Amino acid sequence: MRHTARPRRRLHRAGGIHHDGLMPLIAVAPSRPTAPQGVQVVAAPPHWETPCTHTECTLHQLSPYIGKLKSRIAADLVRRYSRRGDLVADVFCGSGTIPLEALRLGRRVFAADTNPYAMLLTRAKVNAPVSLEAAQSHAAVLLDNAEHQPAPDLRRVPTWVRRFFHPRTLKEVLRFAKTLQPVGDSFAFACLLGILHHQRRGFLSHPSSHLIPYLRDKKYPPHAFPELWSYRPLRPRLLAKIGRTLRRPLPIPQIQRHARLESASIEQIELPDRLDCLITSPPYMNALDYGRDNRLRLWLAGTDRPEELDRFTGGFEAFRSAIQILATKLEQRLKPSGHAIFVIGDRQTRRSATGYPSEELMRIVRQRSPSLKLQSIVCDEIPDIRRARRHGRGVKREHIVVYRKVTNA
Ligand SMILES: C[S@@+](CC[C@H](N)C(=O)[O-])C[C@H]1O[C@@H](n2cnc3c(N)ncnc32)[C@H](O)[C@@H]1O
Repeated sequence: MRHTARPRRRLHRAGGIHHDGLMPLIAVAPSRPTAPQGVQVVAAPPHWETPCTHTECTLHQLSPYIGKLKSRIAADLVRRYSRRGDLVADVFCGSGTIPLEALRLGRRVFAADTNPYAMLLTRAKVNAPVSLEAAQSHAAVLLDNAEHQPAPDLRRVPTWVRRFFHPRTLKEVLRFAKTLQPVGDSFAFACLLGILHHQRRGFLSHPSSHLIPYLRDKKYPPHAFPELWSYRPLRPRLLAKIGRTLRRPLPIPQIQRHARLESASIEQIELPDRLDCLITSPPYMNALDYGRDNRLRLWLAGTDRPEELDRFTGGFEAFRSAIQILATKLEQRLKPSGHAIFVIGDRQTRRSATGYPSEELMRIVRQRSPSLKLQSIVCDEIPDIRRARRHGRGVKREHIVVYRKVTNA
């Protein structure tokens, strides 16, 4: 992924600032969020700007996800706030960036999310094969099996889905998805979802956007670009996708990966006892629709009405309630000296009592988790290239709010 330069206008050098060691000695000029006395808002380290798509584990590029964290940032947070062998939790794991980096760095993992597409990606990443040859020959067998499936009746497929595909391609996609259902092969399924829509030739749909599914029929009308609207065979595309995804695999034998995954909301999950570290990015308040924006992939994965997922996760009340529940659970389950790190997509919101999600989070943690002490706040400007809707009014900045559990004993 390309990166634009991050604006530095509001930053100034400040000597002698005390902070927890991860971040450079650059303080952000006073602004929001308002930090409590003695806690400084510091700027993210410059190396977070550097692109990492050519060096990161290529499983991170399995399939896009809105609000996905950069793997370099996830790795830095895991390294700084936990040790090898520690149990690291991410209860809003999305596409599994933090769990994958935690495993790669020798941690144990607990991960959960309500979104079935998110959990499919996370499961696929943490259980991904190490050997490319084995993965491709296994996929070839599955593709052969799919050819023996009965032809799907496309009249049962919603019109909005059919508009994205050539009928022959769509039949191959549906047969393959059906073959995968009983075997539960999350890696092969996630690779299929990863090539579902885009305008490039290696993808399966008519020309459309990659992150959020929109047909690009104005930019690439069928009469002017007939080749983009023709049949696209699944087999070569899927095998090539597996090749790209395992170019830099997770170099740890599957048997040595300790990961517990739960497809559940924060209300339902039981946090593991004596947790060493929580690193998580809660849902962006009122800014991202994890159901609607992933609708085509969710539909193929078996969610009939993807938009309904957003009824419980999108707004201000949902954010506040999720953080309240999490803070209460953390108070009981985080080990003494353990860290809790929240990556908050921040912007002013009229409905919030305090104005900013990160300020709301700090207020709730003060009430519900009195043993968590605020250590530092890191401000990371999000360049347009990393945002789901560029040039929009949505979240332009993330605040990383760092806590440590202290006990009187
Ligand atoms: C900002 S995204 C996480 C992105 C992730 N860090 C990544 O790199 O892909 C927030 C996630 O929270 C999930 N979510 C929203 N409300 C939830 C809830 N009540 N319980 C569990 N997960 C929830 C959404 O489905 C979404 O995947």
